[in-house]
Amino acid sequence: MQTRIETLQNGLGEAVELIKKGEVVVFPTETVYGLGANAFDPNAVRKIFAAKGRPADNPLIVHIADISWIDRLAVDVSRSAREVIKTFMPGPITVILKRSNLVPDEVTAGLDSVGIRFPIHKAAREFISACGVPLAAPSANTSTKISPTSAEHVFEDMQGKVKLILQGGDCEVGIESTIIDMTSDTPTILRPGAITVDMLAQVLGKVKTFDGRIVVAKAPGMKYRHYAPSCDMVVADSQESAAAEYAGKVADGKKPVILAKQDYIDGIRKLLGKFDFIDLGQSDNDAMRLIYKAMHEAQQSFDYIICQDFGGDGVGASIMNRINKASGGKRV
Ligand code: TXA
Ligand code: MG
Repeated sequence: MQTRIETLQNGLGEAVELIKKGEVVVFPTETVYGLGANAFDPNAVRKIFAAKGRPADNPLIVHIADISWIDRLAVDVSRSAREVIKTFMPGPITVILKRSNLVPDEVTAGLDSVGIRFPIHKAAREFISACGVPLAAPSANTSTKISPTSAEHVFEDMQGKVKLILQGGDCEVGIESTIIDMTSDTPTILRPGAITVDMLAQVLGKVKTFDGRIVVAKAPGMKYRHYAPSCDMVVADSQESAAAEYAGKVADGKKPVILAKQDYIDGIRKLLGKFDFIDLGQSDNDAMRLIYKAMHEAQQSFDYIICQDFGGDGVGASIMNRINKASGGKRV
């Protein structure tokens, strides 16, 4: 199968046709690129699992472009869930609700809940609207690989496995949506993201946070290793330990690279002089947008990744969630 990247303008008609025929199409969102299929077509949904090599017990998120779909896809939507929906949708959040009979088992992996997401990305909304049905879509990477934040990332990873990738440029948010489970008594964050714990707590009064260790895997995806680059990666406790690790790896004949924000890089320059790094910008929001892109670049040109620690607050905690998984928790 030949894989093509098309702009929305040139590719929209064909993309909609493919969805109607029960095929998969890759589309951009503000978080990461998604691999979409008609959520009501079980055969089409199975093609997503096949293309990704994804375990069948890991449910998919359903993407909508019109809020009125929520009451068709979900039942028993609580007042607090409606509050979250009103405040944060469209945007980088997925809300887990009790599913209606319209949603096939293939999408939810047999669970009685469904994850619903209404992206704010313009091309995503235009595409979903034009399809006329909600789209089931995971991130558009093969299982265990880094999530794609550009059409080119998808091409590299999924070439030959999908026909069409809609071009939407670099994703503005850069990590996957926050997932909040609104089916439990206390709303629970299953995956942190750009909509932070504090933002949700403000709306809900009380949320249970995702602490990095899942004892009962409510989001089955959490038990699989995710977001992993093809080379080793570690998180550094401090600039000193990052510099020492870097020097040690060079001495071992490796080709390491440091991923960090600008002030951190400046600090390391004082310790190492010349060294290879990938700049994650100035703020935690910059770093969130750039982290997957940096990991993609790093695994192409280097063989060992040393990443700074982003601490435990705000979007920093959400970035840490991804890099802890990518590094398998290894620290230096
Ligand atoms: O930003 C995003 O959410 C992106 C873009 C494409 O929208 N999508 C995405 O999908 O990250 P995926 O499949 O890579 O991650 C979805 C996660 C998985 O860990 C899955 O287990 C969990 O959401 N999930 C989906 N439905 C669920 C449900 N009903 N209950 C609990 N977890 C669910
Ligand atoms: Mg994913």
